[in-house]
Amino acid sequence: MFVLAHLSDPHLGPIPEARISELLGKRFFGMMNWIGARRRNFGQATLAALLTDLLAQPTDHIAVTGDLVNVSLPAEFDTGATFLASLGTPDKVTVIPGNHDTYVHSALSYHLEHWAPFLSGDETHPGTPLDRESFPFVRRRGPVAIVGVSTAVPTAYFLASGEVGGAQLERLRGILHELKKEGLFRVVMIHHPPVGERHYHRDLRDAEAFRRVISEAGAELVLHGHDHRASLGRISSNGELIPVVGVPSASAGPEDGRGAGRYNLYRISGEPGAWACIMESRGYAPGDATVQLRDTRQIIGLP
Ligand SMILES: [Fe+2]
Ligand SMILES: [Fe+2]
Repeated sequence: MFVLAHLSDPHLGPIPEARISELLGKRFFGMMNWIGARRRNFGQATLAALLTDLLAQPTDHIAVTGDLVNVSLPAEFDTGATFLASLGTPDKVTVIPGNHDTYVHSALSYHLEHWAPFLSGDETHPGTPLDRESFPFVRRRGPVAIVGVSTAVPTAYFLASGEVGGAQLERLRGILHELKKEGLFRVVMIHHPPVGERHYHRDLRDAEAFRRVISEAGAELVLHGHDHRASLGRISSNGELIPVVGVPSASAGPEDGRGAGRYNLYRISGEPGAWACIMESRGYAPGDATVQLRDTRQIIGLP
């Protein structure tokens, strides 16, 4: 039995003090959004209680699907690194970037520099500079292969969209075929949801191409964030229905309109061709400020 935890979108606060020059443009609007969100029940106390509950659970690995920061100020990435280290050592914690982690052009490489130990593939030599070509990266842990995809591209004002890109999609296809031959349970991490409908300004631009790759090459589980909602979709692949799961923001309180803060645990067992995976959701519920088990369901294999 391998236990994988998934959390997303902590949007760690508070936003550090910034020089006026750093707050011109898109960051200014992001800052206003963040202040508004804090007013609407979003914050560190709710995150801390959720993490206390998570760290009390026996897990083999923790996956974090992006949006650790808010407006990509340099100091926010130090906070992000501290947050990741609080979850566990880099061999037990994997992160991928979200749109807020590459909020402006000048911040495109901050997550690669500050969080490198948590988003390097097994084959990357420590100290090797990472770039967009480093994705997807692969980490093999027991029966599980974790595949980290980046959708992070800087976008214009009021845009929160993402893109995998043709070159990364081709690498992803090859990696998934190879991992299938190795008989591993393939978990793909991607910030933007690859299924479902949403407004173009927050969509994954090449979602259809991503779904085609997953459908053709296969995967056992796709994890995402970005919507700040609990969701379970499927991508059909060679007679199988691959679960695609989203979680609410880990910092969202019990009254958050999009979804109270949660994380998921995946209990993975079985073998190639006969995998089983039970998903447990733990966290808040509307109107209930205690963190506890909220849902259990079998998402792969017979009930
Ligand atoms: Fe987010
Ligand atoms: Fe996002």
